[in-house]
Amino acid sequence: MSEGIITASYVGATILFILALGGLSNQETARRGNLYGMIGMAVALIATISGVTGNMGILIGGLVLGGAIGLILAKRVQMTEMPELVAMLHSLVGLAAVLVGFANFMDPERLSHYSGIELTIHDVETYLGILIGAITLSGSVIAFGKLSGKIGGNPMLLPARHFLNLGLLIASIWLCAEFVEQSAAGGGSMPLLIMTGIALLFGIHMVMAIGGADMPVVVSMLNSYSGWAASATGFMLNNDLLIVTGALVGSSGAILSYIMCRAMNRKFISVIAGGFGTTSGGGGGASVEDQGEVIALQAPEVAALLKESKEVMIIPGYGMAVAQAQHIVNEITKTLRAKKINVRFGIHPVAGRMPGHMNVLLAEAKVPYDIVFEMDEINDDFPKVDVSIVIGANDIVNPSAQTDPDSPIAGMPVMECWLGETTIVLKRGMATGYAGVQNPLFFKENTRMLFGDAKKSLDEVFKNL
Ligand code: TAP
Repeated sequence: MSEGIITASYVGATILFILALGGLSNQETARRGNLYGMIGMAVALIATISGVTGNMGILIGGLVLGGAIGLILAKRVQMTEMPELVAMLHSLVGLAAVLVGFANFMDPERLSHYSGIELTIHDVETYLGILIGAITLSGSVIAFGKLSGKIGGNPMLLPARHFLNLGLLIASIWLCAEFVEQSAAGGGSMPLLIMTGIALLFGIHMVMAIGGADMPVVVSMLNSYSGWAASATGFMLNNDLLIVTGALVGSSGAILSYIMCRAMNRKFISVIAGGFGTTSGGGGGASVEDQGEVIALQAPEVAALLKESKEVMIIPGYGMAVAQAQHIVNEITKTLRAKKINVRFGIHPVAGRMPGHMNVLLAEAKVPYDIVFEMDEINDDFPKVDVSIVIGANDIVNPSAQTDPDSPIAGMPVMECWLGETTIVLKRGMATGYAGVQNPLFFKENTRMLFGDAKKSLDEVFKNL
């Protein structure tokens, strides 16, 4: 492929990636957005491969191997395990940036290609690529461990941790100066290796210090880091498409982190500095006995309550995803709407385990988009709601976020369903949610519990409707 066609393909792929991001911002256009992304990536791959002059065998082998692993993983992974998969994929981007950085540094023709200021710029690019890549790599592995429950969700808070971080930062800057100086004289491997070790430790320390409740922000932040790592790699390799694509991922991840922080009423800097979302706060420790008795109902009673109501709000959470109850939820919605009952869905920004988790499930079950609302759009309407059905949600409907300043989720906006006439909570037992805090909602006078797997319970409710 000629140079001109490759450049044109890169421009085309960039436009497709931008259209993909635009499409993903709305449920109705998300499918199309995904398609643009896939076509863009195919164009990018073909254009890049056609420009390669080295050993094609290794390249094709790597592509087939990587593609096969990706395909198997994508087929096997459950929807609820998506954040873990994403964290793992981010770690691979970080690893790739580190490896490309070292390969670039070890390139025997490096010193003949670059000299003077150009060499300095190239070395700084290499250094930054490895630095961001190593932080992304180790941070994502820890995030994977935390999300999958292999590492405890409690933050690990070392004494003087902020000074430790500051020390690591200053050491990295000093090592960068050392690396640039030694590299011009043909050396530099030692500062580069030490910095890689520091960056790996920093990544581990950074994510270990973040509590369970703040993990959504961490996942999107690592997403952003992986983008910047890719962008730095693009600078190293002189690949414009990688620079632009990395910057798109980096900035969209940063915007998403900001949106997540706003949704959870957290300051980005405090999340990164760690220590939030602990399970050791006073509210977190409140025991079930402290709160009184819960009132349990059976499915026929729930069906009767629903039939008598005019306004129903459905609040889905992580448990709906676990139970795969979205299809029966849609059936119940259709039945109620046929009885002229106004049914709406209220979606909390961090419901489930990934951004847009609930929207994806409801779209899959073909719930009409126009009855699905964001929390901000419907939170004021609860006083007019007859029955709210909380399906496998917990943290996002926890009133202690508003009332208990010691709670790990203090300050997080929540769905105020308790202001309605009756709230019915579907869950299997009295287990806590992701943040590990007990929920006073379950013990309120106007709350009723329907215990059991959400899908089985809703099947029963549906039969009784
Ligand atoms: P959670 O607070 O995690 O609560 C889920 C509830 O579902 C649990 O209390 C569980 O209780 C119940 N459950 C589990 N399986 C069930 C089943 N088969 N049938 C019925 N109920 C079931 O969920 P949430 O309210 O959606 O809140 C999300 C939490 O995850 C927040 O703390 C958020 O910060 C965090 N988080 C979110 C994200 C993103 S980006 N969305 C990413 C990482 C973490 P039982 O075991 O008693 O049934």
